[in-house]
Amino acid sequence: MPQQTQIPGTESLRRLNRDQVIALILEPFTHGYGFRHLWIGYTGSGKSYANVDLVKAAAEHVKYVIVTDQKNRETAYDGEQIPSISALAACEPDDEGHIEAVIRGLAMTNNVDDTIDFDVIGKAIWQLSLRDEGVLLGIDELSDACEGERVWVRGLIKRSYMRLLYSQGRTKRISIAACTQNVQEVPRAAISNSDTLGIFRQDRKELPYYAATRFLDAIELEAVANLGEHEFLFLKRGQETCVCKF
Ligand SMILES: Nc1ncnc2c1ncn2[C@@H]1O[C@H](COP(=O)(O)OP(=O)(O)OP(=O)(O)O)[C@@H](O)[C@H]1O
Ligand SMILES: [Mg+2]
Repeated sequence: MPQQTQIPGTESLRRLNRDQVIALILEPFTHGYGFRHLWIGYTGSGKSYANVDLVKAAAEHVKYVIVTDQKNRETAYDGEQIPSISALAACEPDDEGHIEAVIRGLAMTNNVDDTIDFDVIGKAIWQLSLRDEGVLLGIDELSDACEGERVWVRGLIKRSYMRLLYSQGRTKRISIAACTQNVQEVPRAAISNSDTLGIFRQDRKELPYYAATRFLDAIELEAVANLGEHEFLFLKRGQETCVCKF
């Protein structure tokens, strides 16, 4: 009989606590850069819960925090609720001079016309970054920013400010903390340009895709399949994969 290779579940992986993971995600700040982090997972797995914590921790490092939350009727993110990015100019800074805003989407307003225009937001953030004061964009469903396509599109051309934010924003102190249910609905550039990933419980039909694309190795795949409630796999370039729960 051929010898079976034992592939362990999450027990074999190092566990980190919330503060350790947040410190690793925010590490680019110590070099004067922005960070990009992406949470991936099935509905209810814990992405927004973790992202709220991350955005809170990152907020003190930047002048502007802008969150888009198109999905939730009542947002868990802090900040003044505004109808569009153009209303940001009227937001009052807090005592430390930070400005935090949540752009209202259609779930919050019940108006189907209130879909968020990510190209407009991307351009405004690019402009804000020219002041070099630090901008954090929180995107509660990243697939909304590309309309479920795997490319950033603007009109009929494959070019957009979202792409610029992901590919060139790092040195302009633009940070992105995003959530998505499904990696197959977001551009590859959002994944490849994310310095860190948090992968929560997945829908079973996602796992063969991860295996086929070698997005995760065999040990990571096994670990993702065995994650507990609200646990996630934490991936950072040049570092061993860990398990965490906030
Ligand atoms: N670490 C945690 N500890 C305690 N409760 C948690 C934790 N993570 C998530 N929850 C709770 O689990 C529920 C689902 O979490 P959350 O809203 O973050 O899911 P989600 O992945 O964003 O789902 P969706 O894709 O539908 O937006 C929420 O009620 C949240 O408060
Ligand atoms: Mg959510």
